[in-house]
Amino acid sequence: MLERRNNAAAPAAGSPLSDLYVPLCKAHDEARRTGTFAIAHLAQSLDGRIATRGGVSQWVSGEEDLLHTHRMRALADAVLVGLNTVLLDDPQLTVRRCSGMNPIRVVIDPERRLDGSQRLFTDGAAKTLVLAAADRTRGDEALGQAEVVPVPRGELGLDPHEIRRILARRGVSWLFIEGGGVTVSRFLISRALDRLQLTVAPLIIGSGRPSILLPEVDHLSECLRPRTRRCVLGDDIMIECDFNE
Ligand SMILES: NC(=O)c1ccc[n+]([C@@H]2O[C@H](COP(=O)([O-])OP(=O)(O)OC[C@H]3O[C@@H](n4cnc5c(N)ncnc54)[C@H](OP(=O)(O)O)[C@@H]3O)[C@@H](O)[C@H]2O)c1
Repeated sequence: MLERRNNAAAPAAGSPLSDLYVPLCKAHDEARRTGTFAIAHLAQSLDGRIATRGGVSQWVSGEEDLLHTHRMRALADAVLVGLNTVLLDDPQLTVRRCSGMNPIRVVIDPERRLDGSQRLFTDGAAKTLVLAAADRTRGDEALGQAEVVPVPRGELGLDPHEIRRILARRGVSWLFIEGGGVTVSRFLISRALDRLQLTVAPLIIGSGRPSILLPEVDHLSECLRPRTRRCVLGDDIMIECDFNE
């Protein structure tokens, strides 16, 4: 499995690409000794928006960040998104801008709002799972070509740690969470992220769907201040937060 990932996305030694991806592969290898690795990515405007209010997000960031996203998919065992992203974008979540195998595709749809008409459920491009609240599925159901997987409800909907455990039992060691803001924020609130990549693009949307939203704090001492590293991707800057340090 790891060999496939390396073949899919490992850059030549010494290149700037290796600076970006080799530390990630090492972090994943370390994490999988004790469990799994979960990394999220969002492309946001200077004012912290990932889409317009109506949900238009194509494209916030530039070509290099889009290519990066496809490389992250190629590295991952599974790519996960929230319900709104599927409803608004109808994404394929496949690897197309670089070489590599398609990861398992996972959608969080607790209340079973999706009707199976979206491309994920009809294109047959990769195994697809719908995570639904355990009280909303018998556990042996399908949605189009996808399998519906029951997840127990937690304090904030479906518990991200439980999601990681369920996916790990299905062989998912590297989980890539690709949005949107609500989904990534719930993983972050639950301390269920190893890393978070925020690509900041030089545009101001002014209103719209927020990137990370966490409960309010009174003092800056209560903020998260993770160790970070930075990478220039064309006109954008990607900042990667490491929550394990
Ligand atoms: N710029 C980027 O990087 C980027 C990336 C992806 C998407 N997008 C854009 O972002 C927008 C969608 O983002 P969004 O923040 O509005 O929504 P989202 O994260 O795509 O979906 C949120 C919904 O997913 C379900 N969900 C997610 N995590 C859950 C959990 N742990 N437990 C239970 N339910 C959970 C909930 O559904 P229920 O409401 O049924 O509870 C929630 O309302 C779209 O416009 C898309 O185009 C941008």
